Amino acid sequence: MKTSLFIIISAILLIKIITRVETGSQQVDQLTGVQLYTKYCLTCHQADGNGVRGMFPPLAGNAKITGPSTDIIRIVLFGLEGPITVNERDYNQPMPPQGYLNDNQIADILCYVRSNWGNMAQPVTADEVAKARKLGKLTN
Ligand code: HEC
Repeated sequence: MKTSLFIIISAILLIKIITRVETGSQQVDQLTGVQLYTKYCLTCHQADGNGVRGMFPPLAGNAKITGPSTDIIRIVLFGLEGPITVNERDYNQPMPPQGYLNDNQIADILCYVRSNWGNMAQPVTADEVAKARKLGKLTN
């Protein structure tokens, strides 16, 4: 009798834990592009996409951001190291890889980045992210 009660209580607790974990991951997936950007990119690239002069390059008014999507997807997934020049300013800090984000999340972030602050470029799809993930890190 005591054993069966114990088993029932354990089962209920287990179900509760599983439900909580599932709801948790759903909530993460439901974040929109702007929310994901705020959480994962804003500290460096800033709310207005202008970055920090000499430290973090701008994503606003940067031709590379609105160009073909493959390179920028690879940068977000695997990071970037080495000197770059954006709008005649030099940058040379490592960009940390963000590959723990899933394909949908990265597509949503880049859709946001490519259609705000005056940027106007084609959306990025999860399929494009999946393909770029296979290409590995971009070297410059
Ligand atoms: C810790 C700071 C930091 C965070 C967080 C960060 N970045 Fe960066 N990012 C950088 C730095 C620094 C560079 C420049 C790398 C270099 O000089 O080689 C860069 C470069 C880039 C570039 C390439 C710009 C160019 O003109 O070549 C893109 C695209 C980019 N970041 C997008 C993002 C996105 C999207 C996120 C969020 C998912 C993000 N970054 C998060 C610091 C950061």
